[in-house]
Amino acid sequence: MILNSRTEKDLSAIFIIFGGTGDLTHRKLMPGLYNLIYDQLLPEHFSIVSIGRRDKTSEEYRDEIYKALIKFSRNEIDSEYWNRLREKIHYYRFDFRDMSGYDDLKTYLDKMDIKEKTKGNKVFYLAVAPEYFETIVEGIQISNMANRKDAWSRLVIEKPFGKDLKTASKLNERILEAFHEKDIYRIDHYLGKEMIQNIMVLRFTNLIFESLWSNKFIDNVQITLSEKHGVGTRGGYYEHSGAIRDMIQNHIIQILSLVAMEPPINLNTDSIRNEKLKVIQAIEDITPEFLRNNVIFGQYDQGIIDGEKVIAYRDEINVPKDSNTETFVALKLQVNNFRWAGTPFYIRTGKRLGSTSAEIVVQFKSLPNILYFKDHNMQEPNLLVIRIQPNVGVFFQFNTKDFNTHNDIVTNKMDTSHISHSQGNTPEAYERLIYDILRGDSTLFSRWDEVEAAWIFADEIIKYREQKRVQFPNYESGTFGPMRSFELLARDGREWWKI
Ligand code: BG6
Repeated sequence: MILNSRTEKDLSAIFIIFGGTGDLTHRKLMPGLYNLIYDQLLPEHFSIVSIGRRDKTSEEYRDEIYKALIKFSRNEIDSEYWNRLREKIHYYRFDFRDMSGYDDLKTYLDKMDIKEKTKGNKVFYLAVAPEYFETIVEGIQISNMANRKDAWSRLVIEKPFGKDLKTASKLNERILEAFHEKDIYRIDHYLGKEMIQNIMVLRFTNLIFESLWSNKFIDNVQITLSEKHGVGTRGGYYEHSGAIRDMIQNHIIQILSLVAMEPPINLNTDSIRNEKLKVIQAIEDITPEFLRNNVIFGQYDQGIIDGEKVIAYRDEINVPKDSNTETFVALKLQVNNFRWAGTPFYIRTGKRLGSTSAEIVVQFKSLPNILYFKDHNMQEPNLLVIRIQPNVGVFFQFNTKDFNTHNDIVTNKMDTSHISHSQGNTPEAYERLIYDILRGDSTLFSRWDEVEAAWIFADEIIKYREQKRVQFPNYESGTFGPMRSFELLARDGREWWKI
């Protein structure tokens, strides 16, 4: 797509990355920027300033980025596009904990702004550990780089956004002292994934789905985000996080809100966010009874994955031998509003499970077994599966008569999905998100009240997990979590669908 001049004007900016030598920058941000150049979505007047503590030249830094692109970009590295990106990248050595350095940074950026004609617009991307978020925001604020009248300044903040409601609120207040809410982009990278954006499209452009999208016709909804990998080198982080903070508070709650939301009055950012928020607020009260009956925790033991022996969570680097951190959670919850009351949402996520995949299964109610399915045939329900990854697309299951026999009914499976490994051809979540940040569209980012409502929910479950001593480890790596997760559904006469 070729950008027209109006868009070009709007997108011109300096993209400043705090944490320019970190993993996120190498794996996601730079490949995202490269692919935007490749798709001709970056403006001509655009610069990237990567900030790092280590001493190196821009040339050395660019060489490192080139190696990272070869490894992580979904598109092959074409020298023409790489050269275009290369000349936009600059390395700036700076210890961002040093408050006295921010004025120099401002002077450097101002000069670059004139030279590169980037119109004073700035994106400050915090790709650093969360303990530095407030420090950096303060530095940006005291050097007058936030909230400028003559240009825009946007702050992009990675997760985790706080470690509970209290710390998240404090962080938010601090950030709001420096930036307006409209200029804050709280990343939830799941929102940048193709099929997550597709949930609304699928629902609100297809009468056959939307007219059945309620407790009247839907038996239950299942959301599974499973991963084969363990915590790897992130044990230090994960030990203080666990699956609830890592996946439920953000990605899963966001998915749930898109699946269950009412149609917004239009596609404006706030109209969508208002409807999403109402879903989170309608999640049932977290009572002791709910916690006892509807929440299952797990932690992985050693096991076999893809034929290889893997170690238990407690044997991972930086994880204590008696760790009580959950690497798996399963939940059953109700969204208590008119549309959904009575239709359970089953949720599960975990590490070292039998597959890496993300899927939403919508199971429709069964028809009365009066005409068909009276005798031996079990009625297979209609299933709509939104496949987020690695397959990307939609699967639908329905029944027809079997052509080969007189009476039998067969279950047909229509599948529009195709496998997209991270190197595949679906735009990476970060590409879409970076592009939206430049365009000033924050629809795919979380507004504070959504984050807050999600923390109110997650906090209760985290507190419960901290008090409860579960016999960990309680599931073997390579399986689908503890037995109790299966019992959670079996109790209701249901099962986790494995499509
Ligand atoms: C991150 C979590 O937010 O999401 C990780 O911190 C997790 O623990 C990752 O592995 C999963 O994202 P994706 O895009 O690989 O499904």
